[in-house]
Amino acid sequence: MRYRGPVPPVLLSPRAAALLLTDWRAGADAPAYEALADALRVLVIDGRVAQGARLPAERGLAAALGVSRTTVANAYAQLRSDGFLVSVRGSGSVVHLPRDLVGRPDPERLGGVVEGDVLDLRKAALHAAPGIDEAVERAVRHVPAALAGIGYDTVGDPGLRTAIAARYTERGLPTDPAQVIVTIGAQHAIALLARVLVRRGDAVLVESPTYPHAHEAFREAGGRLVGVPVDAHRGWDAAALETALRRTAPSVAYVMPELHNPTGATMAASTRATLLSVATSVGTTVIADETMGELRIDGEPSPPLAAWPGGEDVVMIGSADKVFWGGLRIGWIRAAPALLQRLLLARPTGDLGTPVLDQLVVRELVPRTAAVLEARRASLREGRDQVVGALRARMPEWDVPSPAGGLTTWVGLGRPVSSALVLAARAEGVVLASGGVFGPDGGFERFLRVPFTMAPTDRGRLVDVLERAWERVGGESAGVRGSLAAVV
Ligand SMILES: Cc1ncc(COP(=O)(O)O)c(C=O)c1O
Repeated sequence: MRYRGPVPPVLLSPRAAALLLTDWRAGADAPAYEALADALRVLVIDGRVAQGARLPAERGLAAALGVSRTTVANAYAQLRSDGFLVSVRGSGSVVHLPRDLVGRPDPERLGGVVEGDVLDLRKAALHAAPGIDEAVERAVRHVPAALAGIGYDTVGDPGLRTAIAARYTERGLPTDPAQVIVTIGAQHAIALLARVLVRRGDAVLVESPTYPHAHEAFREAGGRLVGVPVDAHRGWDAAALETALRRTAPSVAYVMPELHNPTGATMAASTRATLLSVATSVGTTVIADETMGELRIDGEPSPPLAAWPGGEDVVMIGSADKVFWGGLRIGWIRAAPALLQRLLLARPTGDLGTPVLDQLVVRELVPRTAAVLEARRASLREGRDQVVGALRARMPEWDVPSPAGGLTTWVGLGRPVSSALVLAARAEGVVLASGGVFGPDGGFERFLRVPFTMAPTDRGRLVDVLERAWERVGGESAGVRGSLAAVV
């Protein structure tokens, strides 16, 4: 089979592969080559070795793992025959995700509206923060002045832009209102940036897993996605990040360095430094999406990525929708005025401006961000601790991380049954997005994103339903336990 992957293969070094494969022999009574093939297959399915990566040469991997070259050759041969590896002339063995694991259609996403008494957790979002009704009342004072204008506003209300700039400045990133435009939520900001910065065929670096509507927007703009693994416990694979940047020189790197969605991970200072210096040297525009970034529960928040050394050119995306309320539909972009001009020129073909009355409300709210976050923190901590605690107690075989913030926990199920689990839970009225939705190249069938944003009275229902669904899925797939090869 000829490789038709989207970007030049990124080399996985023997050392990096050996680090990912630390436990490959654990508990395996199968021959060594089969255990190695299984371990590599899991890394691919979980997105920890990205689709399109080139595996080390057999001799190099054999030396790094302390096994014979025949073991590695047989493992690669097995992966090739299972459809997980393809040979590329001149480039060795390139990782490939078999078709049935790519972009697996997710019934929960395609289904759209769900009706009846359901707990819909496909969107991780909170109910409105207290004080929004008062902000609406206060905003009314500014309505007569707003009505004196024509109301088409692609740049943003000056008072709101001043408030957003002041918030960045308070967080350690001095900002002038001329560096800010207001958008219709952060999603609109992502799509607008994708349209302006990505040309058809450009490589675009995204995290893997990532926020799904971002990878969709970059793909729709013609980008060829390059995934960099992020893990709830270990964070970013910094070596893979650097290699991917150098090898593919993407036009854009879209990252969530603070409280990444869905894993809740926060990027280490050393990885930020690598990202910023390598991106600058290869001419990549870094976009840092902080939609979840202010929802910290434990520890101290980091300054925005653009405030880090070498981060001057980072484009920041923010949103009022997770902190205050999703119904506001207000986001923003902080960037150099020259880029903002390009965005404003491109904007009218998609929309003619942000609703003015909603901006007046958010203008009242942004100066109160710190107080609102204080209240949010308390309720998020309670939700996280209860949901994580109950899932750990009832499904001890799951890996249930307790993230330092954000709205979700990225649960490791241990087996590739996320879609089946989601379907079983849906039959009992709890609707979740399966792990694969978050993979830019599919995969993540062994993961489930579980929000802890629901009302306290719904937490018990979520955990009860997941426990029953897990029992059902366990029963159905008992025959394939322990052998991934049989499933994929
Ligand atoms: C990382 C990330 N970016 C952007 C968005 C979209 O945000 P908004 O509701 O402001 O459009 C979300 C929503 O979940 C998100 O998680």
